[in-house]
Order: sequence, then structure tokens, then C-alpha cells
Amino acid sequence: MKTLIGLRGLGRAEIESLVDLSLEIHAIGQPRKSMLGRTICLAFFEPSTRTRLSFDLAAQRVGGDVVTYNPATSSTTKGESLRDTIATLRAIGSDVLVVRHSRRGMAEAMHDWTGMPVINAGDGDNEHPTQALLDLAMLKGRFGDLLNLRLAIVGDVIHSRVARSLVYGAQPLGVDITLVGPDEFLPKEGWGVRSSGDLDSVLPDIDVVYLLRVQQERGASVSADYHTQFGLTPDRSMMMGSEAVIMHPGPINRGIEIDSSVADGPRSLILEQVSFGVPTRMAVFETLARELA
Ligand code: CP
Repeated sequence: MKTLIGLRGLGRAEIESLVDLSLEIHAIGQPRKSMLGRTICLAFFEPSTRTRLSFDLAAQRVGGDVVTYNPATSSTTKGESLRDTIATLRAIGSDVLVVRHSRRGMAEAMHDWTGMPVINAGDGDNEHPTQALLDLAMLKGRFGDLLNLRLAIVGDVIHSRVARSLVYGAQPLGVDITLVGPDEFLPKEGWGVRSSGDLDSVLPDIDVVYLLRVQQERGASVSADYHTQFGLTPDRSMMMGSEAVIMHPGPINRGIEIDSSVADGPRSLILEQVSFGVPTRMAVFETLARELA
């Protein structure tokens, strides 16, 4: 792997290798030195808590030197173009760029401009590959083989880079995926998986409910009856099988896609997901390091 723009097009072996290495690092919990002497630049043009901090920690735990670019205090405020900015980050000595941007395609563009290895930390509504990898690692740790695991991705699917990456990553592993939401939140082209507008009919037959936030920053709006139809309430969570679990990439909007008592309840793996953020990003750095000259 020379760069990680997305999971679309990756094969089963590549995805499994990243998932298995994430699980191994999660279990061992020790720092590694695969990026010793390398400089990792974090450039987040969109807000983030989990992804930015876990990339920062992961970079340190693989021995990298971390530099952080902050758009608000950078020379882009003096008119420097994005392309010149990224070339400057490369010239300063960055070996790897971790980037989040509100426009789809920007991670790939930055790789094309500089030839620098880029890890996409979320580009618009396109992909968020490390989120999907950490989710798959957590699921494999819990369920073992993911073949035929029944996963429902519920909510604002169409605006979600997490949903896209999860579908692209989970499909090659044989996960059985259903997208659930109102028509306006479901992809018209279907993404090669089934979809449903009726959450209540789906819930009894799934192993994992993966909830999504309504992405108002990408133009989505929450209708008055959204919570009634698609919110995961205590009553709805009782419709799930006894072993079924609840996931969410965060940040959660309590009272909209999920009720507080469900988010904090025994089925919820939301914070367990977060605990895979650092190991999975360490696994990505380590895999990338094998390709660095
Ligand atoms: N899941 C996720 O990407 O969260 P942040 O926006 O806090 O990084």
C-alpha cells in the first residue's frame, strides 16, 4: 500500500491484512518503531475529535515525528493556494500526509499534486477508510469471521463517507449489508446492497445496527418525524436479537438518531469502536512504512 485514499477497489486480502494487524496491535498495546525518523503531517481542514487525536497518537506510537497544520492559523489566510500549501508541507519534509477536507476528491488530488503518500481522514461525502477499518477490526474481534454477519447501516447514508467506506470494506469480507433510511437518505444507485425504508422490519434479523448522524453540514435536514421513524429508541432496541449490538462512528446526536439510554446501554459498542482508532491507524502507518523508500 503506497497511499490510502479509500477502500473502494481494495481486495479481500488487503483489507483482511489491515484488519488483522489492527487487532494484533490492539491486543498487544505496545508502541512500535516502523515510522522512526519519518515525519507525519496532520492537515485537518474540517473539525475532528476522534480521528485527529487518534492519528496523532498513532503516529507517535509508531515512532514518527508529528507536525500539525492548522488552516485557521496558516498562510492560506494570506491567500496561499491549497496546492502551494500542500507542496510546502512536502518541502518541509513530510513523508506522509494525513488529510481531512470537506470536498470529495481532495485527498486524491493532494497525492497527485505531490506524489506524497496520503492517508484520507475523510473527504467530503466520499470515503473515511480508517473509520471503516477500525469498525471491521472491532467487529472481527467480537464476532470472529465476518462472513454473513448481518449489518444494517441506518440513517443519512447518502451523505456519509463512513457508510461508503464501510460498504466498500465489508462487502469483500462477505458481510450481509442493508441500508436503512428515508428515501432521500438512500443512494439511488443502491451501492450493490439491499436497502429498506422500514427500520422496524429490519431490526429483528440483524447482528449489528450501525447508526449514522444526519450530516447537516452537507445539506441534509432532519424532518420532524425522523426520530420517530428512524431513531434507535429503547423500544426499538428491544426488537433486536439478544446478541445484536449497536455501533456509531461518532459524534452522536443524542435524541435524534439514538436515545441517550441506548447510546449508554449494554448493547452499545460506541466507545469500544473509539478504542480501535489508535491501533488501526498504527496498522495503516506500519503497512505504509513498508513501501517508503
Ligand atoms: N468518526 C469520526 O470521524 O469522528 P471525528 O469527526 O470526531 O473525527
